[in-house]
Amino acid sequence: MVRWCAGALALLPIVLSGFALSRVSAAPPAERDVKAGQALYVRYCAVCHGEGGRGDGASAAGFATKPADLTDGRLMNTLPDEFLVNIILGGGAAEGLSSGMPPFRGHVSEAQARQVIAYLRGLARPPFRPEMARPPVSAPNAPPQPIFFSHLIHAGSFQIACQYCHADARRSDYAGLPSVERCMGCHKIIGAQDNPEIAKIHDYWRRGEPIPWVRVFKVPEFTYFPHKPHVRAGLACQTCHGPIERMRVVGAETGRTLANDLMNLVGLKPAPPLLTMGWCVQCHREQNAARGTHAPLDCITCHH
Ligand code: HEC
Ligand code: HEC
Ligand code: HEC
Ligand code: HEC
Ligand code: HEC
Ligand code: HEC
Repeated sequence: MVRWCAGALALLPIVLSGFALSRVSAAPPAERDVKAGQALYVRYCAVCHGEGGRGDGASAAGFATKPADLTDGRLMNTLPDEFLVNIILGGGAAEGLSSGMPPFRGHVSEAQARQVIAYLRGLARPPFRPEMARPPVSAPNAPPQPIFFSHLIHAGSFQIACQYCHADARRSDYAGLPSVERCMGCHKIIGAQDNPEIAKIHDYWRRGEPIPWVRVFKVPEFTYFPHKPHVRAGLACQTCHGPIERMRVVGAETGRTLANDLMNLVGLKPAPPLLTMGWCVQCHREQNAARGTHAPLDCITCHH
């Protein structure tokens, strides 16, 4: 296990070390479950989402945020089962969406929610394949944020490019966080009338205040980390930040840990924890050796 850290696998421990990956479940659904799911769908969901799942049920017109088109594979296929189960049992609010989508806990069991999902997967156009919906990642140490902003929805389901929001990453030291105006570009309309999380964006905007996001990735003041050269060197954001598009809330275990120190003490050589000096230097060595880059190893470039 310790000797993994070589050759092509070199980056893997870096990517995986700070993030807990959930298990994959990908057995094809039984016909019986799909049939049961269809019956449940007709009973509980069709009134809003429509007979065919297109979001055009009898009650749909009454909602400011329309019931979702559950047949739209472009949006639905990347959403993992766990996320959909959570919405069905806990309602839209459980994932930050509008509470126009009611909770069904008490009416359907988790097993039944999975049957409905098995049925819905079959309606998707383009067609659903299990490998499209990668399990969500529950990142450790995610701080509470002022607004429940989900990367799983924005960067996962809607596939908004990372640099649309973190636009400075390729041209400056900081990746940057989107301004309230950038959020309002979409949310002046989307979710404005019936989603309390989005109402908060409007409040900040009216008051002319920035949203006080809590930082997750941060190196100490005496250290210099510029995004630009890293992004220009072709390193994907996920190499350092993990699979952000699969996180409903962003978090990471960064800095030294007792477990890691102990492993070093007894002579195991664990991958250095995210954002420690060992992490920077190990990647610099590997990249310089593998690709002939000129990533600095001298103290002064990282500490000035
Ligand atoms: C009372 C109307 C209503 C009923 C009944 C209803 N929904 Fe919804 N549903 C909504 C609305 C409104 C939204 C949109 C929420 C949003 O986008 O903020 C939604 C959204 C969803 C989403 C989120 C899709 C996405 O884009 O992320 C799923 C999944 C969903 N519904 C499944 C179901 C299922 C399954 C049932 C039946 C068990 C059901 N809904 C019953 C109104 C309803
Ligand atoms: C390019 C368009 C776009 C931008 C920019 C955007 N959003 Fe969204 N956002 C969406 C869409 C589409 C949804 C899904 C709406 C739905 O289904 O109800 C959404 C959903 C949400 C939701 C509800 C689901 C969740 O994520 O919890 C919140 C809250 C939200 N956005 C906050 C923000 C904030 C804060 C910003 C700025 C930092 C932002 N959004 C920027 C398009 C955008
Ligand atoms: C619609 C806008 C939007 C998109 C698209 C988006 N982000 Fe974000 N990102 C945010 C907002 C707002 C925050 C602050 C709240 C939070 O931490 O979730 C954030 C936080 C982060 C953070 C944590 C910053 C910190 O505090 O240290 C990272 C890392 C990040 N995003 C990377 C990405 C990556 C990688 C992608 C593409 C896969 C992406 N983001 C797509 C808006 C966006
Ligand atoms: C080589 C590793 C690495 C790569 C690649 C990388 N980041 Fe970062 N990122 C970091 C580090 C380290 C920090 C903390 C920097 C600090 O404290 O000044 C950070 C901080 C951030 C932040 C917090 C706020 C800010 O303005 O810096 C965001 C947002 C972010 N990164 C997004 C991204 C996105 C989006 C990409 C891809 C376009 C990306 N990062 C690529 C290592 C990386
Ligand atoms: C590639 C970038 C990089 C290089 C090269 C580098 N450092 Fe660091 N160094 C960091 C980062 C990031 C931290 C903060 C994280 C941590 O404490 O591990 C740090 C932390 C430190 C600390 C504080 C450690 C502590 O326990 O608080 C000292 C002292 C230090 N570096 C000295 C040096 C010296 C001396 C050199 C040259 C031999 C050097 N660094 C080279 C990135 C670097
Ligand atoms: C995943 C690999 C990776 C990680 C992790 C990484 N770097 Fe780098 N870094 C690179 C590469 C590759 C380059 C060289 C780019 C080139 O030669 O064009 C580089 C270049 C740099 C540069 C030189 C910028 C310039 O203008 O020449 C600095 C400073 C730097 N890194 C600091 C850091 C610090 C500090 C950390 C840790 C907080 C870190 N890096 C983590 C891969 C990485």
